[in-house]
Amino acid sequence: MRTLFDEAGEDLRRLPFAELEARAKVCKLCRLSHGRTHVVFGEGPQPCDLVFIGEGPGEVEDQTGRPFVGRAGQLLDEILKASELPRESVYITNTVKCRPPENRLPARDEMEACWPYLEAQIYHLKPKIIVTLGNAPTQLLLDTQEGITKIRGQFFPWKNGIELFPMFHPSYLLRNPSKEKGSPKYLTWKDIQRVKARLHEHRNG
Ligand code: URA
Ligand code: URA
Repeated sequence: MRTLFDEAGEDLRRLPFAELEARAKVCKLCRLSHGRTHVVFGEGPQPCDLVFIGEGPGEVEDQTGRPFVGRAGQLLDEILKASELPRESVYITNTVKCRPPENRLPARDEMEACWPYLEAQIYHLKPKIIVTLGNAPTQLLLDTQEGITKIRGQFFPWKNGIELFPMFHPSYLLRNPSKEKGSPKYLTWKDIQRVKARLHEHRNG
């Protein structure tokens, strides 16, 4: 996706990380700014070799200002913990930083409006691997219409040597709790193991 600029026509990648967050917190680039309680910028170490990108903040995230802290977030925490990838060791953010009303999916123009922030975050975080959770971030970053069921569980070369790995969204796993062989949860368990293994390969050169 092409680089977009903020209201002032500035390339946000030039800003220090803290300044970037401060700008996002007063952003009015799209309609989602009207309904928000808190901007949910993201959290985790900086830089960070593993970044997770979700869809957008839900109700609890909007109330607390933290990403993935509601039910889906608790499941994400469990998945991370069980794979010995502690939540504190990864960076977690979303395609849009403000809550879409009624928990609908972020619209394309909202994700595009928010892209300069996400792009600048990625630029500063310098991840080796980006995991996109669900259709919205996967389709945005890979610029594809392909559905998550088809493209999850594969490494895609993205930009600047970063690999992108799509996984099911934890909300989808909450709706599909079976752990049978071949189920979304089963596949997600396989997927996170692959992310972990690949990360180790990167870390060990
Ligand atoms: N779902 C998301 O996609 N992101 C969050 O931060 C919470 C729930
Ligand atoms: N649809 C989504 O958006 N995400 C999933 O993980 C599955 C279906």
